[in-house]
Amino acid sequence: MAFNFRFFFFFSVSFLCIHLSFSAVLAPIIQDLATRHYMLSLYTKTPLQPANFLLDLSASFSWVDCTTNYTSSTHHPIPCGSPLCNMLNSPACFNCSEPTGPVCSKDSSCRLFLTVPRNRKRKITVQALADTLALPGTDGRNPGQLWVVPEFVLSCSKRSLLKGLVPRGVTGLAALGRRSNFSLPAQVSTAFSLPKVFALCMSGSPSAPGVSFFGTSGPYYFLPEIDLSKHLNYTPLLVSNFFCGSTTKLKVHPRPSDEYFIGLTSIKVNGRVVAQLNQTLQTIDENGFGGTKLSVATPYTMLESSIYAHFIEVFVNESAARKLTVTQPLRPFSACYDAADILETRLGPDVPIIDLVLQSDDAFWRIFGSNSMVRIASEGVDVWCLAFVDAGANPQSSIVIGGYQMVDNLLQFDLESNRLGFSSSVLVHETMCANFNFTVNSSLI
Ligand SMILES: *[C@@H]1O[C@H](CO)[C@@H](O)[C@H](O)[C@H]1NC(C)=O
Ligand SMILES: *[C@@H]1O[C@H](CO)[C@@H](O)[C@H](O)[C@H]1NC(C)=O
Ligand SMILES: *[C@@H]1O[C@H](CO)[C@@H](O)[C@H](O)[C@H]1NC(C)=O
Ligand SMILES: *[C@@H]1O[C@H](CO)[C@@H](O)[C@H](O)[C@H]1NC(C)=O
Ligand SMILES: *[C@@H]1O[C@H](CO)[C@@H](O)[C@H](O)[C@H]1NC(C)=O
Ligand SMILES: *[C@@H]1O[C@H](CO)[C@@H](O)[C@H](O)[C@H]1NC(C)=O
Repeated sequence: MAFNFRFFFFFSVSFLCIHLSFSAVLAPIIQDLATRHYMLSLYTKTPLQPANFLLDLSASFSWVDCTTNYTSSTHHPIPCGSPLCNMLNSPACFNCSEPTGPVCSKDSSCRLFLTVPRNRKRKITVQALADTLALPGTDGRNPGQLWVVPEFVLSCSKRSLLKGLVPRGVTGLAALGRRSNFSLPAQVSTAFSLPKVFALCMSGSPSAPGVSFFGTSGPYYFLPEIDLSKHLNYTPLLVSNFFCGSTTKLKVHPRPSDEYFIGLTSIKVNGRVVAQLNQTLQTIDENGFGGTKLSVATPYTMLESSIYAHFIEVFVNESAARKLTVTQPLRPFSACYDAADILETRLGPDVPIIDLVLQSDDAFWRIFGSNSMVRIASEGVDVWCLAFVDAGANPQSSIVIGGYQMVDNLLQFDLESNRLGFSSSVLVHETMCANFNFTVNSSLI
């Protein structure tokens, strides 16, 4: 009996290990059509309830709205002075004049510093709490049973912090920031001993969600049986500093930023170089100015004024060569074309191809019409506009790659190797981000 039991135990454990090494978790990505914001669908509280959290690539801490109707049998504050509380406050940067220590409430519970979303200059302290968070397990092909993170650290915040900008039904924010030990990817990786790698594939379809994977560098299967992890190119993730009081360029308490930067070296339209980014625009200075940032929350890619002007000029020239003539611009877009003049293909409107060239000439993020042009049909107009906007003369980042350019692209954020994997348009591979098979395979544990 004893022998049998030990054998059984050994067998189960090794089965589990083999199994886990092929597993990860996922969350559907949905878009709110009114606000264009992307959200992750996950489960929180006890008993578990579905929740939509705003997807934020630059936030360090996730939060929930704990002020209205927060009922959960497992949520609890974090004691002040506990090692966890000290860890939470270490990256804090609230008062620029002096480094901060742990902060306590009157009831001896831990507080942490939170940057107000969409107003990153403003910081407030909020209560830290831990509660249950759950996401479906996955083999990269289907969702399986829910995996539970019992002590997920969140901050407790008011929904009104986000003002009118939040889609209805959003009850929190999912932080995917790069450095934070308390981001969603970091806590999931720690809880399940998975690699700190996550991937986003945002759907271009209004009716079907996209998908995010946490804790795996692949496979990522999309119908019909296309593993998009096999179609990635890679570029290093660069470091940028974040400064307390960066409005005035005060050099106090610098720390590496939680945002994701890549090294764009030039932009091409139909192979013609638009902008060989000069050193000033390309490099991120010690105050965190310059460079190319990724931001899901930015609707359309933003280019510094001089790059933008040249980019529009070359694009208009290249499309003129295809007998396409610009019509009235529609703010904030500068180059728009009559929809009737443009041929539609599997890869979107047939317009000049844009390449974002990275560390070498053969490492480029290719942008076809489906990601470069946006259809605007209203009030008697029906046009396709080039979906890039002018960021002004002195933006913090020279280029911000926005959500529209990421749709139907798979992006893999590898925080172990500090690199970004990018697929360019997955439509090229005869699939799309809406093609993940969300049918639950209940034998996946
Ligand atoms: C509070 O939660 C209960 C039970 O989940 C629900 O029936 C009620 O509508 C909620 N109230 C608000 C204001 O969200
Ligand atoms: C920040 O710290 C300085 C120096 O200790 C202090 O004078 C100031 O009042 C503090 N500001 C805030 C907002 O706490
Ligand atoms: C995250 O944790 C690691 C290892 O415990 C530590 O070295 C690092 O300083 C932490 N990062 C932050 C931003 O607190
Ligand atoms: C665009 O075309 C015009 C007229 O052919 C030419 O003068 C100009 O140099 C071109 N600009 C670019 C950026 O190619
Ligand atoms: C989706 O996954 C389920 C469960 O694995 C499977 O039975 C079904 O055939 C898949 N659907 C398609 C279209 O392949
Ligand atoms: C469901 O998952 C199990 C375990 O990984 C796998 O053996 C099986 O083939 C999957 N079923 C389908 C229909 O994909």
